[in-house]
Amino acid sequence: MNERQPEDPDARAREIELQMTDDERFSLLVGVLGKGDLWPLRDERIPPDVSMSAGYVPGVTRLGVPALMMSDAGLGVTNPGYRPGDSATALPAGLALASSFNPALARAAGEVIGREARSRGINVQLAGSMNLARDPRNGRNFEYLSEDPLLTGVLAAESVSGIQQQGVISTVKHFSLNCNETNRHWLDAIIDPDAHRESDLLAFEIAIERARPAAVMAAYNKVNGSYAAQNSVLLNDILKTAWGYRGWVMSDWGGTPSWECALAGLDQECGAQIDAILWGAEQFTDRLRAAYAEGRLPKERLSDMVRRILRSMFAVGIDRRGDPPEPDMDAHNKVALQIAREGTVLLKNDGTLPLASVERIAVIGGYAQVGVPTGCGSSTVVPPGGYAEVIPIGGPGLTGGTRNLYLLPSSPLEELRKQFPSAQIEFDRGLTPAEAVLVARRADAVIVFAIRVEGEGFDSADLSLPWGQDEVIAAVAAVNPNTVVVLETGNPAAMPWRDSVNAIIEAWYPGQAGSRAIAEIIAGKVNPSGRLPITFPVDLSQTPRPELPGLGEPVGTATPIDYSEGADVGYRWFARTGQRPMFPFGHGLSYTRFEYRDLVVAGGETVVAGVDVVNAGNRAGADVAQLYLIGAPGGRRLRLLGFERVDLKPGQSRRVSIEADPRLLADYADGAWRITPGSYSVAVGASAAAFAFTAEVELAGRAFGR
Ligand code: BGC
Repeated sequence: MNERQPEDPDARAREIELQMTDDERFSLLVGVLGKGDLWPLRDERIPPDVSMSAGYVPGVTRLGVPALMMSDAGLGVTNPGYRPGDSATALPAGLALASSFNPALARAAGEVIGREARSRGINVQLAGSMNLARDPRNGRNFEYLSEDPLLTGVLAAESVSGIQQQGVISTVKHFSLNCNETNRHWLDAIIDPDAHRESDLLAFEIAIERARPAAVMAAYNKVNGSYAAQNSVLLNDILKTAWGYRGWVMSDWGGTPSWECALAGLDQECGAQIDAILWGAEQFTDRLRAAYAEGRLPKERLSDMVRRILRSMFAVGIDRRGDPPEPDMDAHNKVALQIAREGTVLLKNDGTLPLASVERIAVIGGYAQVGVPTGCGSSTVVPPGGYAEVIPIGGPGLTGGTRNLYLLPSSPLEELRKQFPSAQIEFDRGLTPAEAVLVARRADAVIVFAIRVEGEGFDSADLSLPWGQDEVIAAVAAVNPNTVVVLETGNPAAMPWRDSVNAIIEAWYPGQAGSRAIAEIIAGKVNPSGRLPITFPVDLSQTPRPELPGLGEPVGTATPIDYSEGADVGYRWFARTGQRPMFPFGHGLSYTRFEYRDLVVAGGETVVAGVDVVNAGNRAGADVAQLYLIGAPGGRRLRLLGFERVDLKPGQSRRVSIEADPRLLADYADGAWRITPGSYSVAVGASAAAFAFTAEVELAGRAFGR
């Protein structure tokens, strides 16, 4: 092992940067995409002995600066055709992780990714996907965490820390407002700058201060008229100055529209070959050098770019890596299983679940005889043993080729057979309502699996399920009162049949062990405990943008999206507009029952609340106690102030104590957070729409931060 002692990373970065030639400096500023399914050419800048991945940046051997080997992403170490035969643990969707409301599990997920990255020689993991879920059609919501800044920031921080503890750099991405995929390179996210600070930027601020990610990836889109990678307000003023961020900012792949991005705070161009296609040239190679030669890029800025990259390398210790131990893939599978167990959400249950003594079960649809779906795009992970099946879907745009139905083993049908060994289980593919009904009619209970392919590069046109699945479910429910629907989606679904089925489970994209978790929950071996990290609207008319700008427009069409909801994302929007969603944020049922007792709340500088959570039912289970702000001096206002997941045996109770981050009680205005003095109402409850107790507290007025 070559374990050198960590030193002050800034001092070392300064010292090494001073010894560099300009060629060496510039070499650190450009990352190139490896040869694989996405980019079929081998770039000659990648030496022959280097294995392929999403990004390569040469090191400076004479100064002990390692090359950067970058890999996607946040749900495992991906391999779209880079390294033949290489697979990795395929974790559940980010939404599943967030549904657990369990920071320790996010840490464990990060550790899995970090260990597997490191064992492959990857030292930069393009993880920390954390844009807020502002739109239920967004193709990448599955990769992200939630609609709430606190939940998102806390969980992203834990997973980034888990990765970096393994000696692997992690990003947080995509900074900021990459909240829709439609025409993403030409999307202009319009938002009130203060509301931005209170929402998406607050999530990043929380994650960055807690985890100190070594790199931040800028978004593809514009923010208020200027590309995220050349947005000096975002990068220089907020990230680097107001927050004092000391790591480096890399572009997304093909997200460097000009060399001037360097002046706006971008430190590294990544996926440079894609810039050549989209913007006519690589920007940080010849163009940036020319700007430097002509004095348009100051020497101090060049040094700063390099030092930021170096200090991050040294802070995380990627230059001190010894030989990593072989990852324990069984232990990693257990983490994937645990996320699926804790992240599956029981949305509705009129009594069919858990399925007890049934003789005949019909399983219908969703490729349940093959496997479970996973989202597509740069985060798709090849699981150990490979995909169970890949069904090409295709589509327009740059990412059309990556639009596939990827199915991960094992199959839900197989896992249900394990849980119900003495039942007679019949399977129907769910191709037509008429056929499905034949099987459903003769069963004691029906389990319908319903899927939707969602992914990077495209948004869903609406919330319906494709391929006639809504019609199949409606027909089955009409002939069998014990119909259970298992949704495997990356977003809310319309569910026109919701009143006629008995139970609904949202399993998201549940990862490589997801089938087992679903079967265990149906059988009652695992008590469901997931809570929704995003609001499920009744339909799109309830959302801020019933029509999605740019949908159906040709690739390349300028697409301004006015995020006019500002900081009132998700459940906050529903509170502001007085609407009732189909299922609220924080909602999720259990096979036991929880009660809250003795809420005590103190005010002053911030809100501190204590409450007893009691398991009043007769099964062990986990609750997620949620503390909300429901009223402020200016009027009604809903914000999640804190949460805690507690595992409780029947009859057991636990006191939970939550101290609110004062930024959640404040408004961001005139360059600072401001708490208006006066009376605030808070509530504890089981969702953003089910409060058990409310209390009033007095807060002192103050301004803080910047
Ligand atoms: C995605 C990033 C990803 C990068 C590298 C981009 O298309 O937006 O999230 O890390 O590709 O593969």
